[in-house]
Amino acid sequence: MNAMPDRDIILSARNVTKVYPGTRALDSVDFDVRRGKVNVLIGENGAGKSTLMKILAGVERASDGKLLLEGKPVRHADTIEAEKDGIVIIYQELNLFPNLSIAENIFAGREKARNGIHIDHRAQEEEARSLLARLQHDLDPKTLVGELRIGEQQIVEIAKALSRDAKILIMDEPSSALSDSETEVLFKIIDELKASGVSIVYISHRLEELLRIGDYITVLRDGKLRASAPRSDVDLPWIIRHMTGGMNIDVGSDESRKIGEPYFELRGVSLPRVGGGWTVDKVSLRLRRGEILGLYGLIGAGRSELFECIMAARPEATGEIVINGKTLTTSDIAGRISDGIALIPEDRQREGLIQNLSVASNMTISSLGRFTKFFRILDAEEDREVDGRIKQLSIKVSSRDASIGSLSGGNQQKVVIGKGLLACPKVLLMDEPTRGIDVAAKGDVFRIVRALASDGMGVILVTSELKEILAISDRIIVLSKGRVTGTFDRSEATEEKLVAASVALA
Ligand SMILES: Nc1ncnc2c1ncn2[C@@H]1O[C@H](COP(=O)(O)OP(=O)(O)OP(=O)(O)O)[C@@H](O)[C@H]1O
Ligand SMILES: [Mg+2]
Repeated sequence: MNAMPDRDIILSARNVTKVYPGTRALDSVDFDVRRGKVNVLIGENGAGKSTLMKILAGVERASDGKLLLEGKPVRHADTIEAEKDGIVIIYQELNLFPNLSIAENIFAGREKARNGIHIDHRAQEEEARSLLARLQHDLDPKTLVGELRIGEQQIVEIAKALSRDAKILIMDEPSSALSDSETEVLFKIIDELKASGVSIVYISHRLEELLRIGDYITVLRDGKLRASAPRSDVDLPWIIRHMTGGMNIDVGSDESRKIGEPYFELRGVSLPRVGGGWTVDKVSLRLRRGEILGLYGLIGAGRSELFECIMAARPEATGEIVINGKTLTTSDIAGRISDGIALIPEDRQREGLIQNLSVASNMTISSLGRFTKFFRILDAEEDREVDGRIKQLSIKVSSRDASIGSLSGGNQQKVVIGKGLLACPKVLLMDEPTRGIDVAAKGDVFRIVRALASDGMGVILVTSELKEILAISDRIIVLSKGRVTGTFDRSEATEEKLVAASVALA
């Protein structure tokens, strides 16, 4: 019998299976994209969300099953064909050319031409500027993307997608590097898109966010469809039950951790901005043994740049960095690592991981031994440590020898964390460590961080999520325009106070 196509459904996947060597990423999954709605897809790291989205967007082909667009079977050979049908994807792992400008990236492959020959840079830049303005960012469209921070790159990805006139817009974790206020802007745009009839697919690990903007919620677990329901039938326990299959999530409570004396100190650390002013402006702070210090701020506040100054990655930085009463004299990253400082970087693609190396090699290469360790076979002890971390962080991987590129986004992030922890530093700097990892894994990471702090390690942690920073930090410092605009003890910190301080100078 031929059923009438459902007018409310614009695109659907039927019995879609995807097999990778060693993994069945999707197992006979049905998924409907409802017209003009926000269709939320949720599931633990490695559940198959990105794989399903890549199939919808023509990036990957299903091993079995079919796609129906407006009720008719389609088979897109690539993203260009899918885009012709109005399907546009914002990738989880951002996909920009670092050596091209913002404007060039936005129009890559669809350049605006003058007289049909020359690229009309002026027109591209103008349109890019107005797209960025719509996202409430005043980035210069001529800036090279390679100079942008990950959150800014995410804004550019969103601008690029907006410029493409999508009928179906797939957003694979568009907010993972955005702070709450930037996410608000994104939500406003999603509302506008919905009002103009665009259908949205939205993936995120921030559960409150999903409940706020989702119209339909679908849960995947281990490559299978587990549940699907309209928002009105869904609450947080429903999501967690279907995500985990009834397992309890323990986000970890804070056992009586003892916080010791200050042992790490920044004195007037500054970083000049190209073209005048300061990216980091006379930041002074003290970290105690066993303390977890949260660092909050908007995109552009200078949080990651402050970490780069601490790691001696910015030669133009000034100021003093002191560990155990001694001012550091090392002048490069290798030196800082040997001083006992480790950084978990925000950009796992660029600074964290080497894509075609195995999980084990990625975890054990420290920047120090990068070149000597490269071709060396890991010894048994290292194997044991790596396996221990894989287990401790529940990294979903077929073996420690699998290449990093075959892991889901969240599982790659867990490898970056594992690598930072294996270094056993005196001071651990974590820059958006939980970006893209699921709620259960967040609990694991926080538990491990607290355990290390209990052993006396100091931690400085950057996260854009207010609830997260309030949950994990003993003390929170807020930056705005490179300056410290607030310091709050755990007992006095509130979301309102942090937000107010984060825009104090903006
Ligand atoms: N190119 C590949 N080769 C081999 N296995 C892959 C490949 N891409 C994905 N996988 C595997 O398929 C499974 C699903 O991955 P997918 O990226 O769809 O997960 P996800 O739900 O998006 O997770 P996350 O929340 O971490 O982004 C994982 O086990 C992953 O390791
Ligand atoms: Mg994914």
